Amino acid sequence: MAFILAVTGSAVGLGNIWKFPYLAGVNGGGAFVLVYLLCVFAIGMPVMMSEILIGRRGRRNPVATMALLGEEEGSTRHWRLVGGMGVLAGILILSYYSVIAGWTLAYTLKSASGAFSGASADQVGAAFAAFTGDWRLVALSHTGFMAITIFIVARGVERGLEQAVRFLVPALLVLLLALLGYAITSGHFVSGVAFLFTPDFDALTWDSGLAAMGQAFFTLSIGMGAVMAYGAYLPAETSITGTSAAVVLADTGIALLAGLVIFPLVFANALNPGEGPGLVFFTLPLAFGQMPGGDFFGTIFFVLLVFAAWTSAIGLMEPAVAWLVESFNRSRAQAAVMVGGLIWAVGFGTVLSFNLLDDLRFYKGTIFDNVDHLTSNVMLPLGGVFITVFAAWVMCRNSTAEELHGAGTMYRIWRFTARYVAPVAILFVFLKAVGLLPDLTAGG
Ligand code: PHE
Repeated sequence: MAFILAVTGSAVGLGNIWKFPYLAGVNGGGAFVLVYLLCVFAIGMPVMMSEILIGRRGRRNPVATMALLGEEEGSTRHWRLVGGMGVLAGILILSYYSVIAGWTLAYTLKSASGAFSGASADQVGAAFAAFTGDWRLVALSHTGFMAITIFIVARGVERGLEQAVRFLVPALLVLLLALLGYAITSGHFVSGVAFLFTPDFDALTWDSGLAAMGQAFFTLSIGMGAVMAYGAYLPAETSITGTSAAVVLADTGIALLAGLVIFPLVFANALNPGEGPGLVFFTLPLAFGQMPGGDFFGTIFFVLLVFAAWTSAIGLMEPAVAWLVESFNRSRAQAAVMVGGLIWAVGFGTVLSFNLLDDLRFYKGTIFDNVDHLTSNVMLPLGGVFITVFAAWVMCRNSTAEELHGAGTMYRIWRFTARYVAPVAILFVFLKAVGLLPDLTAGG
């Protein structure tokens, strides 16, 4: 149970409530959502199972686990580089994740002070622009979030936070359902549903396909060793298949629910679905500002979101911290401060992306856009390829069958998807998006 809670806590976070709606909006809705769902089940499931089984077999931090198993399975210790890429990905992801979590932290205080009550769409939009436009405020809230994260990881009170997941996720669910009720009665619910679930494939580019796949990795916390690090603590008798299925379903359900709350509000208030990273910060305060008891519920909602972000942040730091502790004999506190300090400093790239360095654009956009693209759309899927290839090609059948408890139908489905479907699909989408595969369809 502790393991399920830890993995669920890591999976459910800003990815579901902040990132999924904004990416669905930017990428045109339905077709993006469909590709995301396909990726979650056809790629996400086998990758997650592979990652957990590797973690449980290695029983070490991701770097050491990959080195050990590489050797044990008759390949090479160089597989540790996959663990190393995960450590790096976690650091880069948390560098911007913490900034967005800082926004959430600030919005908790704003809600509590009644800043949004009765506010119009313009006022809410102006408040967001004023807040993110002031780099000192963004830096302060990023610092606050990171400081508490470092404290939690240093003290090793993750256990307490895992226990918090026990009520956190149900509470988040209840509030989202209440918001759904509000969206159905006060929003343009039908337009919202149509936007999310009517695929327009003409509007789908390989770039948005890659974004959908990247989001599947990001939201499930897979491809960077977080789940592998947690897997090291999983008892031998627990079912990896059952656990993965539970986490995937819960995570996906919460993301879809968030989408069903956000888009009816977007259309009812004539907002732009393609607004970008500010989307939830435009829509939710508006809804809370208009509903009875909104200051109270808004505050609770943002508090829950901050806690959900903490349980994810811990997962993002875990590969790096466990590696320093186990392989460099650091104390947990030292490791947390070193890793956290580095992440905090790197985070300034994102802090400034919304104000002082707003105009600094290259490749995919701002510094934030590039860090996000590099991690979600490149490092995590690549990690997924290596993890599935390792589990399903390099590891011998006996090892994996033992971890997955037998060689029945479920095992065969896992092995087939991990051997062929996941790595091939990931590489295909990836190469298509960077334009390295020729276009064979007529008319191009
Ligand atoms: N899955 C988390 C979210 O959706 C983010 C995360 C990614 C956490 C990778 C850990 C590892 O918010």
